[in-house]
Amino acid sequence: MNDFIHRFVHGTSHRTLLLLHGTGGNEDDLLPLGRAIDADASILSARGKVLENGAPRFFRRLAEGVFDEEDVVVRAHELAKFISAAAKTYDFDEGAAVAVGYSNGANIASAMLLLGLLNLRGAILFRPMPPLSRGVPNNSLENFAILLCSGRFDPIATSEQVDALAELFRQRGAEVEVRQQPGGHELTNADIEGARDWLAASAIA
Ligand code: MLT
Repeated sequence: MNDFIHRFVHGTSHRTLLLLHGTGGNEDDLLPLGRAIDADASILSARGKVLENGAPRFFRRLAEGVFDEEDVVVRAHELAKFISAAAKTYDFDEGAAVAVGYSNGANIASAMLLLGLLNLRGAILFRPMPPLSRGVPNNSLENFAILLCSGRFDPIATSEQVDALAELFRQRGAEVEVRQQPGGHELTNADIEGARDWLAASAIA
């Protein structure tokens, strides 16, 4: 298994949540969020390896919202390899796993999904944006269910960007739902409650 700093918490159900933090976060950040969304799932939470002035991220960016897309692709491969290896080490079913990412973590999750690197069951992406502007392959995402959570006043992951990402997933056959909160880039309780209810009610429950 390659060297991502991470945490694994055993759960009591078949599902595993793959938690991916935002810029400046770490592997501990989203553990309470994961538990609030699913009290029974196992949890794998990784720390991004790229440092931006000391702040961990999952890939390099050239400016706010301007991504180093070559790095996005390389890092997506590296993280997907780690997750698949972790599934073997910790004996969880990758096909029943759900990625849960916030901001930069949502963006690397989207990259792994769009590049067809992981065979997951679904994803919950908070404040995401399209991670790649070109060269996105046309992999089928037909058995995927994806919830995208946007903030109406988010200046970073704007509603237009979240809708553009939703379209990329839909074009590939994923079952996509977009929910918008009347807030900005930060997560709200309504996001968390919405994600919990979606997970419990959706086809992947
Ligand atoms: C962030 O702050 O993490 C960004 O807005 C999203 C990203 O850089 O991936």
